Amino acid sequence: MTFPVDLLALLLRTSKLAALTGAGVSQESGLRTFRDAQNGLWAQYRPEDLASPQAFARDPKLVWDWYAWRREAVKAVRPNPGHYALVEIEKRVPYFTLITQNVDGLHRMAGSQNVLELHGNIQRVRCAECALPAETWGDDTESVPTCAACGGLLRPDVVWFGEALPRDQLEAAVEAARACQVFFSIGTSGVVQPAASLAYAARNRGAVLVEVNLDPTPLTPKADFFLQGKSGEILPELVRAVWG
Ligand code: OAD
Repeated sequence: MTFPVDLLALLLRTSKLAALTGAGVSQESGLRTFRDAQNGLWAQYRPEDLASPQAFARDPKLVWDWYAWRREAVKAVRPNPGHYALVEIEKRVPYFTLITQNVDGLHRMAGSQNVLELHGNIQRVRCAECALPAETWGDDTESVPTCAACGGLLRPDVVWFGEALPRDQLEAAVEAARACQVFFSIGTSGVVQPAASLAYAARNRGAVLVEVNLDPTPLTPKADFFLQGKSGEILPELVRAVWG
């Protein structure tokens, strides 16, 4: 793949940057993307049918077990070259905000500092009733573990369909999207709101849009640069081409 290096390089070296990442960035670490088919035990469920308050109310143990399975999958993987390239970009430009929809924590594990986690973090658990964070819990019980303070059911500290995003993270993300001159959309299908609207917020303020994805998405026709391929290959290549 070749970049229009001179133009993009000049822009990236001199601009305020923001990037939104999605599950595609962690795909090369071995995690499934959201809209992949699931396998094994979970093949019969759609993630949308498990990641919701309604699903938790209907069958809390099913939802808890699905997240326990995903939590273990996350613990077994490591960041990939795409994550590390984003760490490099943060080191090289004075203004860079990394906004992620991923709950896997791999950006921070790679070393990114300024990360906004729009959808929470799967390693954190809190009470579904009083919201108190839980430090420890057992995953091998017959039922969903409960809160030490109020006895409510524990749940993952992630955003479910129909729930509001953490306000501080969303506000900071909107501000970064409006303030940046180049906005990256990386490894996301761009169909889940409000995250998907950030690229448009940036573009409406005149930012250049750069999309990195294996396949075209609904955003692609609006992108100024569509870099098609794996983020774990394209991002390191981009860093080398722009910053040497
Ligand atoms: P999706 O599964 O919807 O999309 C993953 C995107 O990554 C697709 O566009 C793929 O083409 C692309 N992709 C896959 N592998 C890639 C690679 N190696 N390099 C680059 N691109 C690659 O995941 P998200 O867009 O992250 O929300 O999904 C957004 C939200 O929907 C999730 O955060 C989650 C889900 O419902 C909640 O749980 C609230």
